[in-house]
Amino acid sequence: MDKVLISGGAGFIGSHMTAALLDAGHQVVVLDDLSTGKRSYLPKNENLMLVVADIRDPMSVRETFGHHPDIEQVIHFAAQSNVSVSLANPSDDAETNIIGTIHLLEEARRHDVKAFVYASSAAVYGLKNELPIAENAEKTPTSPYGVSKLSAEHYVEATGRLYGMSTGCFRFSNVFGPRQSAAPESGVISIFIHKLMNGETPVVYGDGEQTRDFIYVDDLVSGLTAFLSQAKKHEETIHSVYNLGTNIETSINKMISVIDRVLATSSVPSYRRARSGDIPFSRLDNSKMIEELAWEPLTDLEDGIRKTIAYYNKNA
Ligand SMILES: NC(=O)c1ccc[n+]([C@@H]2O[C@H](COP(=O)([O-])OP(=O)(O)OC[C@H]3O[C@@H](n4cnc5c(N)ncnc54)[C@H](O)[C@@H]3O)[C@@H](O)[C@H]2O)c1
Repeated sequence: MDKVLISGGAGFIGSHMTAALLDAGHQVVVLDDLSTGKRSYLPKNENLMLVVADIRDPMSVRETFGHHPDIEQVIHFAAQSNVSVSLANPSDDAETNIIGTIHLLEEARRHDVKAFVYASSAAVYGLKNELPIAENAEKTPTSPYGVSKLSAEHYVEATGRLYGMSTGCFRFSNVFGPRQSAAPESGVISIFIHKLMNGETPVVYGDGEQTRDFIYVDDLVSGLTAFLSQAKKHEETIHSVYNLGTNIETSINKMISVIDRVLATSSVPSYRRARSGDIPFSRLDNSKMIEELAWEPLTDLEDGIRKTIAYYNKNA
């Protein structure tokens, strides 16, 4: 079984990926500074090793690979992923998202890693009038976060091509599910679930008819797993960029009504003026994933929300 390094493996998405790979019998090294991730998100498993370290520190990354020279695959989630923080402090954002990525890439290629998966974002596209957005749409990111994600994609692919390492850059839509933080600026679904479960009034910026493409975390994990299997099967190295979303647009009002239905509540949101820079409509074309990786999202919004609420009920 392969040894896989997962940066940010103690975070929301990373912890689901970690659990899935352990279940499949792999050894997993989680490299995480626990800035937003938590030890408690990680399963107890003898095949799991947690290294508490910062990807901005090249020596820590080097030592981690030095202790585990047999790492075959890297999945890179660790990031500064708060758009407001990136606007307030673009150089810190770049330090983690670009320089941190380069540190991982340098060690990965030195240790002859076979495949490198990068967690990118739909933020690389910026505002788009035509939906769904395909991978080859023009990239006009509107925040330093979007710029750093796009830039890191280029480093990932260029390093892979230079040194014979397969690479997959995945532009996630809005991911949701158990363990997602409900802090401001995290996932809108977890924020609204938290509010409605606590009897608070949800605040909607704009008229609530703006849309997002919500993907349940298990579907995202199965997409990344499908790529890793494909990269392993291929004799030649592959370099791919994929949208990872559902290609379904859901308005914020609809999303609130689904949460209301599951919780048996009837919330009355407080509508405020739309925030400048907010993307009005979003939907990712996922046909490349479906065709090339024989993948499809299996969890509908209501099912996913039900599972997420069950998690919050258990962990309140
Ligand atoms: N959640 C979404 O909807 C979404 C959408 C698009 C892209 N993404 C991307 O997916 C990835 C994972 O996001 P998430 O929602 O799970 O966020 P998260 O904050 O839950 O996970 C990030 C993890 O990285 C760790 N980390 C942060 N900075 C680090 C550093 N300098 N060194 C080591 N570890 C560090 C954190 O402790 C955390 O465990 C990120 O790259 C994010 O940009 C997420």
